[in-house]
Amino acid sequence: MRYSIRTGSPEKINADCIVVAIWNKGALSDEAKLLDTATQKVITKIIQSGDFTGKLGETQVIHNINGAVGKRILLVGSGDKKKLSGSSVAKLINSALKAVLKLKASSLHFALHSLNVIDRDSNWLAARLAQEAEVLNYQYDTTKSKKAKAFTTKSITVSALPGSGRKSTETALKRGQAIGKAVNRARELGNLPGNICTPTYLAQQATIIADRNRSVTTQILSEKQMAKLGMGSLLSVSAGSAEEAKLIVIRYKGAKADSKPYAIVGKGITFDTGGISLKAGGGMDEMKFDMCGAASVIATMACVADLKLPINVVGIVAAAENMPGSRATKPGDIVTSMSGQTIEVLNTDAEGRLVLCDALTYVEKFKPRSVIDIATLTGAAVATFGSLANALLSNNDKLAETLIDCGQDALDRAWQLPLWDEYQGLLNSNFADIANIGGPRAGTITAACFLSRFTEKQKWAHLDIAGSAWHSGAQKGATGRPVPLLVEYLSRQKA
Ligand code: BES
Ligand code: MN
Ligand code: ZN
Repeated sequence: MRYSIRTGSPEKINADCIVVAIWNKGALSDEAKLLDTATQKVITKIIQSGDFTGKLGETQVIHNINGAVGKRILLVGSGDKKKLSGSSVAKLINSALKAVLKLKASSLHFALHSLNVIDRDSNWLAARLAQEAEVLNYQYDTTKSKKAKAFTTKSITVSALPGSGRKSTETALKRGQAIGKAVNRARELGNLPGNICTPTYLAQQATIIADRNRSVTTQILSEKQMAKLGMGSLLSVSAGSAEEAKLIVIRYKGAKADSKPYAIVGKGITFDTGGISLKAGGGMDEMKFDMCGAASVIATMACVADLKLPINVVGIVAAAENMPGSRATKPGDIVTSMSGQTIEVLNTDAEGRLVLCDALTYVEKFKPRSVIDIATLTGAAVATFGSLANALLSNNDKLAETLIDCGQDALDRAWQLPLWDEYQGLLNSNFADIANIGGPRAGTITAACFLSRFTEKQKWAHLDIAGSAWHSGAQKGATGRPVPLLVEYLSRQKA
């Protein structure tokens, strides 16, 4: 998709569809008024007919217009003018795009520059439009014999006032597009099946990104190299699988070499059978999504390079397949992590924390300014938050606060759960330093408590994305979250 800016009155814009906003009770936006006057009140007539009220998200296509250069008009309901928030704009844009992408319209013009978003700056709308258009343009067809039919739309323009601000609107469009593409990259990796998207495949994808960007380098650690580093916990997860585990290290350099990096660490279980603590059969296919944390790390690294952020970032992916093979780890087995702490594996289905703990110890060597891990870690996070929030736990309240704010801004929200010391006792083991499960209660918290034992020296936050990373049911598929949140966080940082 191509994005650009066009100045000029909406009735004079040559496009296959001109999108204008209508407020509650049919009140015309400034751009709608101009179009209406030029077209013998075609908009007013529709509103008078009662067919269109301006309710947020409502859409109506108008054909055969006279007096305007464009071929069609799309009215989009924009709700209460005084309550136009970021989330309502997102809804408005989403509905408008869904309606126009169905049409045989190759060029779209969004005449929305008079819209005043109460809680966002003026270019947020342009960025959101490009992001949303990219995301809606993605259709999974990689493993279908018939390829999806591409949408007709090839170019999207947005209106802008002439002169000042043009440049920043252009930047916003580029930024939104880059985020949308990164979201789709994460979705694609998530959607690919476990027999294609293996730890080796994830490593290859990271390498391809490095090959295409001068500022990105990768290093792939083999099982042998991990064994040398003492990553007994991570390797206990891949032990039952024929697929070799990989520790994928992706480095982006956007600042001086000695500038300490920000770190993101992703859980990359390319399929989670549960291991010897085997999962039930129903819905187990969805455990191909157990690498969505890894996908978000890989996609965010690509996006950060795209955006040329002026910081250094290191992305680590702990990739393994959790299978019940003859060499698989058994309940009660005790393994030694890279940190030296011994772990009693009481449940082999709590494998995410076992791969992450060694990756979190490994990341210390980069002396990161902050560490955020991203993981589809617990079913309890789904029970707690459904699909709306990324569960957030942190040993640093300031970092947690920043992430919550970034999530609001990017409409990829996170909500914090407590990481109180009193929960730590649930991980006591009679036979090792720590057990890998904390019992049936407070599952998201005890999982984070486990990780906190390996991040004591770090400014660290954990995002449990088990609920937010994919949809089940008819719309089954990866969402690409929390790429928008991570990109927002990294965009706010300084070298
Ligand atoms: N990948 C799962 C978490 C999960 C489950 C995500 C369902 C989304 C939907 C994770 O590896 C797991 O199996 N967690 C267990 C932990 C338990 C054994 C302590 C869980 O949540 O049941
Ligand atoms: Mn599991
Ligand atoms: Zn898992």
